[in-house]
Amino acid sequence: MKTKLSIGETMNTAGSTLLERSARVITPALHIYYPITIASAKGIYVRTSSGQTYIDFTSGLAALNLGHNHPRVLEAVRSQLLNFVHTGGIYLNETTVSAAEQLVSITQQGLDMLFYSNSGAEAVEGALKLARYVSGRQGIISFIGAFHGRTFGALSVTSSSALYREKYHPLLPSVYHVPYPYCFRCPFNCRPESCTLSCLTSLKNSFEHLISPGEVAAIIIEPVLGEGGYFPAPNSFLSALRELCTKEGIMLIFDEVQSGMGRTGRWFAAEHHGVAPDILVLAKGIASGFPLSAVVSRSELMRRWPEGAHGTTFGGNPVSCAASIATIEVIREEGLLEKSSLIGTAAIARLGELANAHPLIGSVRGYGYMIGIELVDSLGKPDTEACRKVLDYCLSKGLILISCGVERNIIRFIPPLIATEDEVNLALDILEAGVKTLS
Ligand SMILES: Cc1ncc(COP(=O)(O)O)c(C=O)c1O
Repeated sequence: MKTKLSIGETMNTAGSTLLERSARVITPALHIYYPITIASAKGIYVRTSSGQTYIDFTSGLAALNLGHNHPRVLEAVRSQLLNFVHTGGIYLNETTVSAAEQLVSITQQGLDMLFYSNSGAEAVEGALKLARYVSGRQGIISFIGAFHGRTFGALSVTSSSALYREKYHPLLPSVYHVPYPYCFRCPFNCRPESCTLSCLTSLKNSFEHLISPGEVAAIIIEPVLGEGGYFPAPNSFLSALRELCTKEGIMLIFDEVQSGMGRTGRWFAAEHHGVAPDILVLAKGIASGFPLSAVVSRSELMRRWPEGAHGTTFGGNPVSCAASIATIEVIREEGLLEKSSLIGTAAIARLGELANAHPLIGSVRGYGYMIGIELVDSLGKPDTEACRKVLDYCLSKGLILISCGVERNIIRFIPPLIATEDEVNLALDILEAGVKTLS
């Protein structure tokens, strides 16, 4: 019998494939997107052990904004490794404080103090705890379709798929979910031209029927819906949400774990709207693949969260912090926000033309290098199968992309910010050919 090998995989001496060894020791709960075994990676490329090269436009789930193994990041990490690796918060150290200074220098005005954690979910937990602590209220409002992570608090505010919540109930109490302004499939069947912000009305209705605003600690939202469908919330909605939160004394939490750190052509997606949160959650691209996350807020709020109210062993790890400083420096020095913004805008225009010619593409949206391409059938319904076929086609041509959305019918186009115009166009050529094979 012929043993099935993953792409680029070799068999070990005991005759087991990596796929088999992995299946033996790593729980199937952990989803592996592609059975590709990589041996090395650099910039926008990954290379398998058998020598195949792929363009990686998954950016390590939107974490590798500088691509793989950026030399400046490696250099910073190496020099930190030579000094020390871990403090456990027992001592102060220059790198961890410098990274915090750098991070608050890129966040919107007023967000000037942070708490470090390790992952997006952990930082979401911290944000929810901070909001409850300083407001003295319990209620939390989140949006249908949101993804905020897998730990209990984060999962309680996540609803991008019922699968993620299945068999984990009861989750955190006093969490209410209201419709996200996903205008392409408006939950109220409105058109953008005739939008009256029914989503906001629905949120306000929840104050009448479910929880009084005076009991709501926080409203948490992704300014650009990530895992749930790569859809940016409209400006009018975010501005109105900001006003509502200010009026009711509710903490507005922006989860920019996926949309932050330059992904949308600005440091943070909220900058496209001129709206600032009370609490900002950062992770993924913050340290170019090293585990680091942060809850950022105004010092006036943070100072009401006293010593011992929250804590961490690994958060603010100096190696990750060294990577974070280098990441911010490279993005600044190489003008990657401006470059990715320009190239991303052109890519969206090109994809828009493709959509005009091919009804399979129902919608193209996004900013910078955070682009969602929604595939639909002839009735305008999500076309999961077509999406899988297009992704398979791209893979066969050496381009790795992933999907999102509950129906897995939306292609995430998320190149590393270092991807040049030519590289983005090459990927678009492949994607375009893939779409044409189905049209
Ligand atoms: C918007 C958002 N928040 C939170 C998370 C959770 O991050 P992590 O997987 O690092 O816990 C993710 C992960 O995809 C995310 O996209």
